[in-house]
Amino acid sequence: MRSHAGRCRREGRTIAFVPTMGFLHEGHLSLMRAGRERADILAASIFVNPAQFAPGEDFEAYPRDMQRDLTMARSVGVDVVFTPDNAMMYAAGFQTYVNLEKLPRGLCGTSRPIFFRGVATVVAKLFNIVRPDIAVFGEKDFQQLVVIRRMVQDLNFGIEIVGGPTVREADGLAMSSRNAYLKPEQRPAARSLHEALRQSQDMVREGERRADTIIAAAERHIAAFAETAIDYIAIVDPDTLEDMAVVDRPARMALAVKIGATRLIDNIALGLSSDGL
Ligand code: PAJ
Repeated sequence: MRSHAGRCRREGRTIAFVPTMGFLHEGHLSLMRAGRERADILAASIFVNPAQFAPGEDFEAYPRDMQRDLTMARSVGVDVVFTPDNAMMYAAGFQTYVNLEKLPRGLCGTSRPIFFRGVATVVAKLFNIVRPDIAVFGEKDFQQLVVIRRMVQDLNFGIEIVGGPTVREADGLAMSSRNAYLKPEQRPAARSLHEALRQSQDMVREGERRADTIIAAAERHIAAFAETAIDYIAIVDPDTLEDMAVVDRPARMALAVKIGATRLIDNIALGLSSDGL
């Protein structure tokens, strides 16, 4: 991967990069299409990164289908897919990690304390191997996108980070490789995440500004469904990820909910300028 990308760069071609953990869906493909439009060469990676899973999480169970993924990647114009194995990425003696001081603390970082260390480390490694001009990440994982932007700025990677909008199923559920875990009877509960976010958006449009009131309504909506356990619901500043008490400027509402054993996340913009804020 490194020498192929180096050759492309020497020929004067620009490189866009989309890192993934595979089991591709339309969300991943939308990022690849965005990358395709922005550079001469489109590279992707498929690597289920053990460093971002804690013991007891779903590293072993994480869905994998390399042949299908490669076919899908090819169909949207990916030129090269990097598919390293664990030994290649984390050789014996590995001991260097990328840690951000503050951004990983709240939201998903509270229940997954090693997650962003694993993400930042593997993305830094992938960036160093591919050395792309731009890289595309989904807003679906909003905290991850903010963490990567910060890391790129702080460590002078010189890579343009492009955020892609969340692609959803027809019923609103955000596409995720982990949706494969859901049983059909859990679907209404899974759908409730997006419903709660849309309801919150409506509340802000109708003039509600108190974050705790909006969050309480979202909690009530989701908790009404069987098998739901709310990890967090928060309204945060989109750059610092700090809690906002009053939605008096653009904000991000983010949540994580367990449906049975499956942990789902979603988020939405609140109070965009188009809403008159
Ligand atoms: P993964 O979950 O496979 O996601 C790869 C990329 O696809 C991420 O940028 C994610 O935000 C984006 N994505 C996932 N679902 C999406 C959807 N419904 N709409 C739009 N984009 C979506 O995120 C990871 O892998 C890993 O943490 C990784 C960055 C590869 C590091 O291991």
